[in-house]
Amino acid sequence: MSANLSPIDTAKFVAAKRAVDFIEDGMRVGLGTGSTAAWMVRCLGERIREEGLKITGVPTSSRTAELARQVGVKVISLDEARWLDLTIDGADEFDADLNLIKGGGGALLQEKIVATASDMMIVITDPSKQVEHLGAFPLPVEVVPFGWQTTKALIEESLGSLDVLGQTGTLRMNGDAPFVTDEGNHIVDLHLQRIGDPRKLSLVLNQIPGVVENGLFIDICDKVVIGHQDGRVEVT
Ligand code: 5RP
Repeated sequence: MSANLSPIDTAKFVAAKRAVDFIEDGMRVGLGTGSTAAWMVRCLGERIREEGLKITGVPTSSRTAELARQVGVKVISLDEARWLDLTIDGADEFDADLNLIKGGGGALLQEKIVATASDMMIVITDPSKQVEHLGAFPLPVEVVPFGWQTTKALIEESLGSLDVLGQTGTLRMNGDAPFVTDEGNHIVDLHLQRIGDPRKLSLVLNQIPGVVENGLFIDICDKVVIGHQDGRVEVT
């Protein structure tokens, strides 16, 4: 599976493969979304085929559900599983406290619900996602379509009293139309540059009417597996 990969795909692949080693027979596993998580789903499919493991997966997006079925991972809903042993997912940024920004792929809502409903969350990544302070990557905020411009204005107004450098948001687009999440919502990406207090920011954002969820994952991630382009893997 690893032949002829680009350096960046090698990093993602080796992280994914190492993380899949944490999956044991009989586990219920949350399946993340994104290019790194897609490697994890493929590696899990390979382990299921080779070792005959009985694993059920709860996908965090329609894309991941489709891939999981293709590679032979049995897919169930979170309502069927209720609680999960482990979730493995990618991230857009992580800091030394293992706080994350997620949602670059637009799946942050299901990703946060699934990771929170898991005994353990492992993030798989390459070293470029490690930061001293979160915020260089635009923070995704999922908002309901009704009145989104008002919600965006309220979000921007709330940023004035918070320890962030930037204070503007942009509606995520898909071509000429607003991006629509699996839950039928839109995403406002916040250009903050540096987030001084991620926990406070997350609480403030989620109190604004019209905000469904934000991409800050605070105290959710337990472990980070970092893959390098030369094939080395670090586990925090
Ligand atoms: C999707 C996510 C992804 O995990 C995040 O964007 C990282 O993606 P990739 O592995 O492709 O860099 O949060 O909503």
